[in-house]
Amino acid sequence: MRFRAPKGTDDIMPPGSRRWRNLLRSWDILAERYGYEYVATPIFESTELFARGMGETTEVVEKQMYNFRDKAGRKLTLRPEITAGVVRAYIQAGRSGEFKGAYSGPAFRYERPQEGRRRQFWQLGLEYMGTPHVEADLEVIELGYRYMLDCGLGDVVVQVNSIGDPPDRTAYHGLLSSWLEERSRLLSEDARRRIRSNPLRVLDSKTDREVVAEAPVPVDHLGSEAASHHEHLIEGLEERGIVYEEAPRLVRGLDYYNRTVFEYVPPSYRAAQNAVGGGGRYDGLARLLGGRAVPGVGLALGLDRILAAAGDRPAARALDVFLVVADQERRSLAHSFARRLRSAGVRCDLLTGRRSVRAQFRAANRRDAAVAVVIGEEWDAGLVTVKDLSSGVGRTLPAGEVISFVLRGPGGQQA
Ligand code: HAM
Repeated sequence: MRFRAPKGTDDIMPPGSRRWRNLLRSWDILAERYGYEYVATPIFESTELFARGMGETTEVVEKQMYNFRDKAGRKLTLRPEITAGVVRAYIQAGRSGEFKGAYSGPAFRYERPQEGRRRQFWQLGLEYMGTPHVEADLEVIELGYRYMLDCGLGDVVVQVNSIGDPPDRTAYHGLLSSWLEERSRLLSEDARRRIRSNPLRVLDSKTDREVVAEAPVPVDHLGSEAASHHEHLIEGLEERGIVYEEAPRLVRGLDYYNRTVFEYVPPSYRAAQNAVGGGGRYDGLARLLGGRAVPGVGLALGLDRILAAAGDRPAARALDVFLVVADQERRSLAHSFARRLRSAGVRCDLLTGRRSVRAQFRAANRRDAAVAVVIGEEWDAGLVTVKDLSSGVGRTLPAGEVISFVLRGPGGQQA
């Protein structure tokens, strides 16, 4: 019997995993630079947390959750997203006030698998809690946008909208329900079912796109505070030079949002209406999950989709340096040289035990190193031979210059 990864899941293996690791790393660094602390929450949580948080009548909760019972009969769910877990953790830790947390990890949705739509997928996300100020919305949008640029998705467009506050929504829902009711025979069965329970969901239904194209939109029915919040948001996007587009029918697939919602859409994904990431403000979520009323805003980006959208740019080399020990007397020197390189941030490796020079060069190529650094007799004069493994060109360098040669000089392959 041969086992295969379950449908809609992927093994992250070299060489593709190099890029994966680099993207995860740059996410951590960028989030840290903006002051976000690292958070990690369980991969499974109580089913009720997601049903409440994301909304009983959302597509994700109704159709896509991996629900199960544990041996004690508890109802649990593999997390379909991470925000609800982070907000739960914030409440459980007794936190109040401002909190900035960033995370990355797998999430699970039972969807029809295709490229960029997986049953297990990776989200990079962050949550900024404790402030209702529009500057927090802008910071979150900007950080996600910066990340897209860093990933090579320089042409991404941020689609933004406001869906208002709950009181604005009550009035608007009534209006939208009646509008949809009048056209119910043109709508899909799913949409008809949602007219009363959750009419906003019909606005982002792909099957009903043509019918709802003329429907009244939330941004035309905002209360004065939400309207001014939205105006400031747009001003801030302009000031920051973020390429955005107002998207009045963007409502997002989850119920916890109010006011700002946004998605990052690379032009190549536009046709399929697929976002590589999205988020919004969720001022009612902490309360809904049993905590105090703490406002929040956040986003999540899909790593699988970012990789699919960024295409096949050449991946970085796996290693910067492979050390080749030509003179076995100098093995321990080679190890201490490897330690020096590694502590300077050079990705470096060497084989164990006594091996022929040929075998070590073969390993250097197999391991996809950028250069081989040969440690032989010339070491006594403070020199090493550095061989570029793509061009085959070799040169002799003072050992002390290897680090700067590799990190910055020609052949420097750091991603
Ligand atoms: P979401 O829009 O449901 O939002 O998911 C965020 C991103 O996760 C999507 O834009 C997409 O890139 C990725 N994604 C979602 N489903 C799949 C899938 N089946 N396969 C591959 N990628 C997928 C959220 O999850 C919210 N928690 C975002 C948020 C954070 N809002 C506030 N804070």
